[in-house]
Amino acid sequence: MNQFFLDLGRTVLARWKAQNFALARFPEIAQAMLEERPPAKHVDLSALVKEVLLDDEQPFQTGSGFGQPELVVYDDPRFYIQILFWLEGTTDIHQHKFSGAFHVLEGSSIHSQFVFENAESVSAHLRVGDLRMKDTRLLETGSTVPIISGRDHIHSLFHLDTPSVSVVIRTHTDPGTGPQFTYLPPHLAVDPFHHDALTNRRKQLLDVLEKTGDSTYPALVLEMIGQLDFERGFFILQNGMIHLRTLGQWEETLHAFQQKHGHLADFVAPTLDEIIRRDTLAELRGSVTGVEHRFFLALLLNGSTRDTILSLVSQRFAGPPIEMIMRWADELSGESDSATWILDAEFPDELAIPLEARSEVFLAALRYFMEEKAVASASVRLSSSDLDKLRAAFACSSLKALLPSAEHQFAGC
Ligand SMILES: [Fe+2]
Repeated sequence: MNQFFLDLGRTVLARWKAQNFALARFPEIAQAMLEERPPAKHVDLSALVKEVLLDDEQPFQTGSGFGQPELVVYDDPRFYIQILFWLEGTTDIHQHKFSGAFHVLEGSSIHSQFVFENAESVSAHLRVGDLRMKDTRLLETGSTVPIISGRDHIHSLFHLDTPSVSVVIRTHTDPGTGPQFTYLPPHLAVDPFHHDALTNRRKQLLDVLEKTGDSTYPALVLEMIGQLDFERGFFILQNGMIHLRTLGQWEETLHAFQQKHGHLADFVAPTLDEIIRRDTLAELRGSVTGVEHRFFLALLLNGSTRDTILSLVSQRFAGPPIEMIMRWADELSGESDSATWILDAEFPDELAIPLEARSEVFLAALRYFMEEKAVASASVRLSSSDLDKLRAAFACSSLKALLPSAEHQFAGC
């Protein structure tokens, strides 16, 4: 049993008891404790790991799959203290049905907060609305942030370093604050703990048809979409969207969904596009090893605005942030015989620009859109129509976050 966390837990218990265990007081008590005795200053993580490995006297360990892994270092019937290890960068945008505070013990993270506006419940497990980011900041080692349960506190944490380690002082569960929605930007909230067994089996059956190349797949999905309710229809669409796009059947299937669900369907296409964008970028981030590039991809993945990205780059690196971004964009660009790209932004084919000049023009255009100045490409003059096409290429890619307008935050193309 770790003495530091035993003392920390006992002090939290005494302070909360003095407040008659009022739920509303718990986050501030947890936050104050983590700031008064910051684990980042007082805990030797290697020693703690060794202690857990060798000492059998430990707090009750849960079967939780959260964290990579979770380690409980203090337990009480009313609250517990956990250490969460994170080996991968991303966690979903979510709300909580517990409260308390978390502290960055090792590593650093991008912390973003959101609001879900114009929300409408479709079922007990799915809501539609407009997700908007209201704040993003860099959390360095030693930072502490309160956790409030319920729909008014939606956030995401993107861990930048491997491992990132957090300490969380939290209640077990706060009555009446569920479901613990996960948000799929820009328009959906789903309950990740709701398991619709029939839908899961149907998705698995469809996967069998997909993997065996069964030609009835698109017609069956089309028939399902014509009959299913919104929630089940959405999950069947999500499951099949990549395969249906490959088969050239996506537009017809989406149209059937729109015919069936009217205005509710408007929330779905941009959300599915954003899922693909985030998956692509997360996959790319997994294959990029440079620390600076991973940081840049994390910023783009996070759906931040241009001003936020510039500010976060400034916090982490000396020098003008636009120059850093231009260097990363250059390093992450490429060309083949038939295409020129920066990350997932492809140079528009219809521009009458020689292949050998495209990289330079594309980078110059990116700078132009970020700085809102004239394109300073030495070799090519661009018409306003060319610029519109280049802007559209960026607006349809992950680099759209670098365009000045905040409306590009989750915009599709
Ligand atoms: Fe969280």
